[in-house]
Amino acid sequence: MPTDVSTESALLRNPMFDPQQRWPEPDPSVWSFHRRMPAYLATTLFDCPELARRYGVGRVLVKAETQRLGLPSFKILGASWATYCALCDHLGFAPEPWANINDLARRIGYLKPFRLAAATDGNHGRAVAFMARLLGFQCRIFVPAGTVPARIHAIQNEGAELTVVPGDYEAAVARAAEEANEHCLVISDTSWPGYDVTPRRVVEGYTTIFAEIDQALQAAGAAQPDVVIAPVGVGAFMSATVNWFRSRPWQGALIGVEPLDANCVQASMAAGRMVAVPGPHRSIMVGLNCGLPSQVAWPRVSRGVDWMVSISDERARQGMRELAESGVVAGETGASALGALAALQGDASAAAIREAGVLNPDATVLLLITEGATDRSNYQAVVGRPPEEVGTLLTVAR
Ligand SMILES: Cc1ncc(COP(=O)(O)O)c(C=O)c1O
Repeated sequence: MPTDVSTESALLRNPMFDPQQRWPEPDPSVWSFHRRMPAYLATTLFDCPELARRYGVGRVLVKAETQRLGLPSFKILGASWATYCALCDHLGFAPEPWANINDLARRIGYLKPFRLAAATDGNHGRAVAFMARLLGFQCRIFVPAGTVPARIHAIQNEGAELTVVPGDYEAAVARAAEEANEHCLVISDTSWPGYDVTPRRVVEGYTTIFAEIDQALQAAGAAQPDVVIAPVGVGAFMSATVNWFRSRPWQGALIGVEPLDANCVQASMAAGRMVAVPGPHRSIMVGLNCGLPSQVAWPRVSRGVDWMVSISDERARQGMRELAESGVVAGETGASALGALAALQGDASAAAIREAGVLNPDATVLLLITEGATDRSNYQAVVGRPPEEVGTLLTVAR
């Protein structure tokens, strides 16, 4: 078993896990919506035998959300669906029929001047800015102090007006919330009291990932995974993961991964209620630098996840390098699921999961890799090669 990286990690078997809980079947119209987005393609489900051998499990499947609808993360799935639903609510009707986004933009063009706003640590805000551009709307994005220039420029390149808010992610969320008015929709993936419909739609939007995985497994005649490992920031993505797998008679294990100094979901499960983990949160897994779980995500995450593991930045770097060896370009946050597998099989603190036999030699492990190379220079510094030398990068004509 590999232990080539000396690190620490923290493991928790979720004391709030409820094996009886079943959630409603996800809404199939989400996937039909995404199929009408420009350049829609299902992302690849890689089979990585070299990783399975290295980590002593039967099979490692990698769902690579490293290029999604022309952006380097899965977040556009939630942002696009939530924006569309928020627009329908704003209009009071669904502006059907429309065949593609240009068609939709024409139908709702009379709303202009109109704006979308969001707070972000990078990926969600870029996705909202991308949607605003497709729809011909203006956009305002708020980022926390310390956001790296590469992420700022990527958002500005989508045509958004960007403001750096003094303070952390939560401060940026609070500032974005002030933008809401009749000419501006706030598309937040984090909820707060009185604002939870859009964050729920963001979660729903991630359903497409799992529908595609199902389709790929069926086409290959492959069985469902026994273990699923997903990154956890505020928990919205994990909430969608729980909803998918726990809406069916699936007996596998769900494992969430957080950075060691921003493990608010693990701390909350240990406390039996939502608690904050104070910052500063300085992990290189920037999408996971969250100090408080989302209220919308918490019910599913707290009852549906079996284990939480908190990992060091070094494990994320290891995940980036090992995914690169398999031809998958994954950024710091994106690679955390593989970093988690390495920690679970290697770290002394994770002995309990090994003793429980979860990651056994027959297990099929699905890693949800949620992000590509969002910070090129750091990618090259960590992996030693630029992203385009590692894997195929899809470029969508603008
Ligand atoms: C690439 C990536 N993966 C995972 C996450 C975690 O998602 P959530 O905050 O919904 O838990 C984020 C959040 O920003 C992200 O950017």
